[in-house]
Amino acid sequence: MDHAEQKRMLMDVSVGAPMHKMMKRFWLPIALSSDVTADGAPLPVRALSQDYVLFRDSAGNLGLLDELCTHRSASLCLGRNEGGGLRCLYHGWKYATDGTLVEAPNVQDPRFKDRVKQPAYAVQEKGGLVWGYFGPADQQPELPHHPYFDLPEENVLSEIVVANANWSRTIEGLLDSSHTGVLHQDALKLLGTGKGPAPSFSGRARSSTGAVISKDLAPSIEVQETDFGLRYAALRSFTTPDGDSGTAARITTFSYPTTVAVPPDNLMQLMLPVDTERTHFFMVFWDEQRVINTGAAREEIFQYYGIDDTAKNKHGIGRAYKDLPDRPRKENNWLQNRAAMADGSTFTGLYRFIPEDFAVGESMGPMELYPVEHLVPADLAIARFRRNVIDNAKRVDRGEEPRGLAPRQPITAGYVELAEGHSWTEIYQGEASAQ
Ligand code: FES
Ligand SMILES: [Fe+2]
Repeated sequence: MDHAEQKRMLMDVSVGAPMHKMMKRFWLPIALSSDVTADGAPLPVRALSQDYVLFRDSAGNLGLLDELCTHRSASLCLGRNEGGGLRCLYHGWKYATDGTLVEAPNVQDPRFKDRVKQPAYAVQEKGGLVWGYFGPADQQPELPHHPYFDLPEENVLSEIVVANANWSRTIEGLLDSSHTGVLHQDALKLLGTGKGPAPSFSGRARSSTGAVISKDLAPSIEVQETDFGLRYAALRSFTTPDGDSGTAARITTFSYPTTVAVPPDNLMQLMLPVDTERTHFFMVFWDEQRVINTGAAREEIFQYYGIDDTAKNKHGIGRAYKDLPDRPRKENNWLQNRAAMADGSTFTGLYRFIPEDFAVGESMGPMELYPVEHLVPADLAIARFRRNVIDNAKRVDRGEEPRGLAPRQPITAGYVELAEGHSWTEIYQGEASAQ
């Protein structure tokens, strides 16, 4: 495969593309639980270039249906959610959560309802997220278990922001330890100053990571294949003020199809490939000790990462703002503040982690551009990610089972400081071996 073919294979999630087929074999996050209330407005969901409607009926059950009514294709997003089902506004056909047609007012034959069904998909709620499965019903896998599934609601904080960029761009940014000390240096400077998040959330580990990352911009990268995908360590040497030295390992995991756990926080980031050029970016934070889904704790975390209201409105990464004409985009140079760069108050002229990542990711252009790339050793995890997901897409395209459907190894990130002569891989010895 040449560069252009490889890029298309990786990025294209349109109907029929190998990556689309591969992703359909997995559960995908599609919404926050709080997005849909009993008898509330139905939610449009676009996933893998196709359109659906999500609703919660009067009894609290979720329904995930094709968006267009099977009578004559009016959008069910216009429908009325009432009395235990979703009623199409055009002729009043009403569907239960499993797609059963329960009323068809313009049909006289009472048996007609048994012959027609609105296509419906498996849906479940775990960890404050709604998950959808769009693949063949007889091949539905288990949803892999994530640590925050077991916690009370108030110990988990989740949000969705939008990148007008391919799903693989957003993942590659998370598997890219060497950009952190450059692109996010403004945010890293907040660590340990009291302006970053409270130590009770992130602990000492995070400030020490920040210090190490800023000092070493060319970490060594080591990658390990796992049954869920891959895990990699960015290795940087450090010396403490007392003169002790060692190696810091920042361990990140990628699990199929679109999940990345990053250290040192309890943070998981999951992508919903809306279509080839847009991604819904789910961020899930959890803290066993603390309530974080409300008040100052919530605001602190959101501000640090740059997914607070300022980011969502002014910087345009919120779901409600992503299509507004004045949102940051190529045409306005992502609203970069050159004056603030000139006076030294910011390195990027952008706003905090996520808007910085999205501006860069969007700036890389659409799938159809094929600029030459020069991958360097610091890009090793990205190269391996690309190769692995492309291989998996090809497997499914050939009619084989994808890798990563039933992971047994724990999908966790970590930050460790290693003594002389020790490897980060020792942490995972004794685990179920990779498939
Ligand atoms: S188009 Fe939905 S009921 Fe006619
Ligand atoms: Fe980043």
